[in-house]
Amino acid sequence: MVTSRFPRTTMATTRATTLEGGLPGARLRSATGCTSEVYRHGAHVASWRDAEGEDIIFLSSRAVFKPPKAIRGGIPLCFPQFSDLGPLAQQHGFARNEQWQHVDPPDDRDEDGANVTMRLVASDATRAAWPHEFVATFTARLVGDEMHTSLTVRNTDATPFEFTVALHTYFAVGDIARASVVGLENARYLDSLDGRVEKTDSDKAVVFEREVDRIYQNTQDVLTVADPGNDRSIVITKTNLPDAIVWNPWVEKSLNTSDLGDCDYKSFLCVEAAATATPVALEPGAEWTCGQVLRVVKQTK
Ligand code: BG6
Repeated sequence: MVTSRFPRTTMATTRATTLEGGLPGARLRSATGCTSEVYRHGAHVASWRDAEGEDIIFLSSRAVFKPPKAIRGGIPLCFPQFSDLGPLAQQHGFARNEQWQHVDPPDDRDEDGANVTMRLVASDATRAAWPHEFVATFTARLVGDEMHTSLTVRNTDATPFEFTVALHTYFAVGDIARASVVGLENARYLDSLDGRVEKTDSDKAVVFEREVDRIYQNTQDVLTVADPGNDRSIVITKTNLPDAIVWNPWVEKSLNTSDLGDCDYKSFLCVEAAATATPVALEPGAEWTCGQVLRVVKQTK
């Protein structure tokens, strides 16, 4: 039993339902009134709203809900590869394009939290891209003002395998020009806009005045999205994910991305908790788990 540390107004609920585009998924509601929608397509957390209905994570105004296309926004799972860092031809791997299975029932011993668990098992389609037997299990848990997500990968093959991975979270911000990411000062990063050359961040915070696409390596586990436009910060605490990608497409890339609205770049930034610099290596029968906790901190005016 998880003991309550949030003011409860109602029971937390999880309901299997049909979501946008007629796609199956689940609607979660925490005891404090936060809500979330999680699609079986990609085990994709597509929304997380606070009790006032404000978006905490961003969903594109032009998101497409037609599998196998990945949903633009929310928390796409990049597995078994982040970007092109691995042997797959497919950018960010296949997990975000696949149909996951619902694992029932939700954990009803969780008295504060609404939770949903989904599973992806190797299939002919995944083997064609990545010839390994695996079981991936994703859980989203909405508890009070926090969103907990975790991914467990089990090697069910007879041989070892390696992968890279990211929880590609799109955070909604009130005004990109005033938003920043704190916690990366002095961290080393590969600049994806400059041939992935290694640089060191000397700034106190990452700010957004142009396109940003950086793979920070071996960062601290606690990073903060400062969002004065929404009078809030979001604290990210990641586990077993040493790296963090920071991305905003800015003007031109948004115009060239069909499922992003032309001005959407003003309303989000991505901080992607990841394991990329050193691929995760799993022996047959071994299991590996990573996760992140996202916590909203409201600023009083
Ligand atoms: C980020 C990458 O993780 O994802 C960017 O660092 C990329 O280079 C972005 O543009 C979006 O990727 P996709 O495949 O969802 O368009």
